[in-house]
Amino acid sequence: MSRDHPVTGRQVRLSALAYGGDYNPDQWPPETWHEDMQLMRAAGVNMVTLPVFGWSLIEPRPGVFDFGWLDSILDLLWDNGIAVDLATATATPPAWMVREHPEIMPVDADGVRLEFGSRQGFCPSSPVWRAAVAEMTTTMAQRYGQHPALAMWHASNEYGNHVARCYCDQSAVAFRAWLTQRYETVERLNEAWGTTVWGQRYGSWDEIAPPRRAPGPTNPAQRLDFERFSSDALVDLFRVEVDILRSVTPDIAVTTNFMSLFRELDYWRFAELEDLVTADVYPDPSDPDSYPLTGLNYSLMRSLKGGQPWLLLEQAPSAVSWRSVNVPKSPLQMRLMSLQAIAHGSDGAMCFQWRQARFGPERFHSAMLGHRGENSRTYREAVAFGAELTRLEPVRGCRVNARVAMVVDWESWWASSAPDSLPSVELRWLDQAQLWYQALDQLGLSVDVVRSGGPFAGPFGRYDIVVVPGTYLLTRADAARWEDYVADGGHLVVGPFSGVVDEFEHVHTGGAPGPLRRLLGVEVDEQWPVPPGNEVNLNEEFGSARVWSEWIEVAADTDIVATYSSGELAGRAAITRRGGGGRVDRPVDGQADGSRDGLLDGSPEVSREGSAWYLSADLDVAGLRHLFGAVARCAGVAVSPPPAGVEVVTRSDGDHDFTFVLNHGADPVVVPVSTAATDLLTGATVTDQIRLDRYGVAVLAHPRLDRESSASSYVTGAALVVDGGIE
Ligand code: GAL
Repeated sequence: MSRDHPVTGRQVRLSALAYGGDYNPDQWPPETWHEDMQLMRAAGVNMVTLPVFGWSLIEPRPGVFDFGWLDSILDLLWDNGIAVDLATATATPPAWMVREHPEIMPVDADGVRLEFGSRQGFCPSSPVWRAAVAEMTTTMAQRYGQHPALAMWHASNEYGNHVARCYCDQSAVAFRAWLTQRYETVERLNEAWGTTVWGQRYGSWDEIAPPRRAPGPTNPAQRLDFERFSSDALVDLFRVEVDILRSVTPDIAVTTNFMSLFRELDYWRFAELEDLVTADVYPDPSDPDSYPLTGLNYSLMRSLKGGQPWLLLEQAPSAVSWRSVNVPKSPLQMRLMSLQAIAHGSDGAMCFQWRQARFGPERFHSAMLGHRGENSRTYREAVAFGAELTRLEPVRGCRVNARVAMVVDWESWWASSAPDSLPSVELRWLDQAQLWYQALDQLGLSVDVVRSGGPFAGPFGRYDIVVVPGTYLLTRADAARWEDYVADGGHLVVGPFSGVVDEFEHVHTGGAPGPLRRLLGVEVDEQWPVPPGNEVNLNEEFGSARVWSEWIEVAADTDIVATYSSGELAGRAAITRRGGGGRVDRPVDGQADGSRDGLLDGSPEVSREGSAWYLSADLDVAGLRHLFGAVARCAGVAVSPPPAGVEVVTRSDGDHDFTFVLNHGADPVVVPVSTAATDLLTGATVTDQIRLDRYGVAVLAHPRLDRESSASSYVTGAALVVDGGIE
């Protein structure tokens, strides 16, 4: 961490890969604190997070403060060389505040106000709550802004966790103000929301409310604006803290911890405000297929600030306590998952939490120091990993150089994941994004995440291939940027149900993919969801679609890459490509029907260099791999698929590549490599192959490979899975 933030110059004051966890000394008597210090030092802990939920102890009665315990613990930590990710303590209002101002508690869509008794209950639009947060943040910043242990600020905690949407009357007031800014007149709002449908017309602002439970489906445009507003309300609450922290301690970095690909909040907007991206990631250790989704989460975190190193702030050392069945991590899984985060650009690996609780809802949640104290397995593993981490210092600050980017836009996600009024609720954007990522990962390709507009949206030109697993909502301006990308030689792959509506949830007439019709050379005549339990086959090796297909018409200058081979759409185009040099082999039966008249008249010539692909169905991973293999060939990107269950990610500085080879599988594996390297974890020299045990990892340092040979092809050829001992 440590280095100044490259953009803002604000510091995370820690000159090592961060290691430690959430620390809740307030749950323990002071005698325990000294033991904590000694055990933390032995484990190599260099940073802890606190006091996330400390408000009720810091201010036990209105205006009465008790900082004694916090002063002591900060001093003690610093005396032991441990830095602090200092929380502003605003994640949970104290009971007295809720009793004095019940209106700060959130209200759900049914009009039920939630009770005190858990955590993170507040209405982000409540003026009382915002004022209280501002006061508490100021108090914390003034008291601890100069404390030497302060490494960075941690605003609130996981905004949107438990409650991300509040439907109370104050939220209604704020929603109206937000709408007034957006539409200026009620007339314009009526037009944007299409209120002529179902007699929804509004005569004045005060008639408008959040989309609370109504007799039937609510207006999609109203719902989408409420999603936007609710995410913005939490961004604004975050901004209250950021502004105060910046004014009191202008040099200290500010973060708030994200929850991976969390549907409810537009993290692009949050990341614009903070100095360092931090994330809490809790893959299910019993799910052998969870690692690609974790990889996608990590890629997003790295990409939210344009590739800048980020920090895994929370993960479970073993089991969590909030699933219905909480399976522990097997030996070495915590190490593997931590190293996966570091591979993807995290400058450290932190945990929730340091010492396992004795009481409260998280008493069965694992910790670095389990209920058996230093005898617990998690502690032994924490000590071993802490020692190993110091060997990875050369990796700190290095970046991942991906040649592929995936577009992630929250507005489109919100709009396409409404509970009703869609052709099918079974086509889920996150499922598709995960499958697309998994297929690319299996080809050995690292993937960055980009958004279609705004900061860090590109330039897409940095990437050879840009994939869009689906963008239901698409504006003309964003589509124009993609046209430029392809015209400049880029290779774009667009998934099903894209370009369907504009920013107001109005369908693009003329057929999807709306403003991409010319670029892609297709028009969707009808969406054709697959009935539950059925599947529709595609020809070639593209497998089958289980939830989605489309009747598409294809322009004369566009190649049909694959057709449907069963079901109502048999013989019709399923996958197309426009541009990209030479022709793809057109399947014999691949001609879409002859009804091309009037399509795409006057389309400009697409650059022979770039290509624009359209996939009208959901495919499984094997089908997607087949497709992306073809795209990569067209784009001139070398692929080098690692063996099943093995992930390869490279971080680089100017001179060196650090290639992480991670075996997520249960069997040992031997992986051939192209250049001699040193494994940073063991110090061993690797010449032509490396053996990784179950959950084994190597971090191979070697001279930097040029971009064309691509770091991913460092791992070469077919790898060998060995069972038991190595030959
Ligand atoms: C996070 C939260 C932590 C802890 C953890 C348990 O969502 O920020 O405070 O509750 O989950 O997994």
